[in-house]
Amino acid sequence: MDIFQILKKEHDQVKSLMNQMLSKKESKADDLMRQIHKELSVHMQGEEKLFYPMLEEDDSSREKALEGYEEHHVAKGVLKELQKMNHADERWMAKVSVLKEIVEHHVEEEEKELFKAAKGVFEKEEVKEIGKKYLEEKERMMSSMK
Ligand SMILES: [Fe+2]
Ligand SMILES: [Fe+2]
Repeated sequence: MDIFQILKKEHDQVKSLMNQMLSKKESKADDLMRQIHKELSVHMQGEEKLFYPMLEEDDSSREKALEGYEEHHVAKGVLKELQKMNHADERWMAKVSVLKEIVEHHVEEEEKELFKAAKGVFEKEEVKEIGKKYLEEKERMMSSMK
């Protein structure tokens, strides 16, 4: 898989996890939150390490990349707050909804704009190479989080 296929697949996974979360399966809330936190954190960290830096350096994609970092920053803040909060708190669902909106908006921009710009920045070989490095990095991060 190349980097675009990998990132798209992870976007779909996270979106599906958040939809499950909002379908109010109370008993699974903590489990789902743990999963969302892990998947999203690793995804953002991987993108920031291997995907964004080259886009930040190119004039054609710099602005979008900088915006992406800021959206990650906001999502991380909300994730952090959710971790400290009990899911019985009435603000819990409101916060999950906001996280979902932020993530969906961000994912749409990435897929529609940043991926497009990246295709002009990365060489064909790089697209595969970055994908490989991304998966290695992900495995490393996942095992350090256990
Ligand atoms: Fe992202
Ligand atoms: Fe992403």
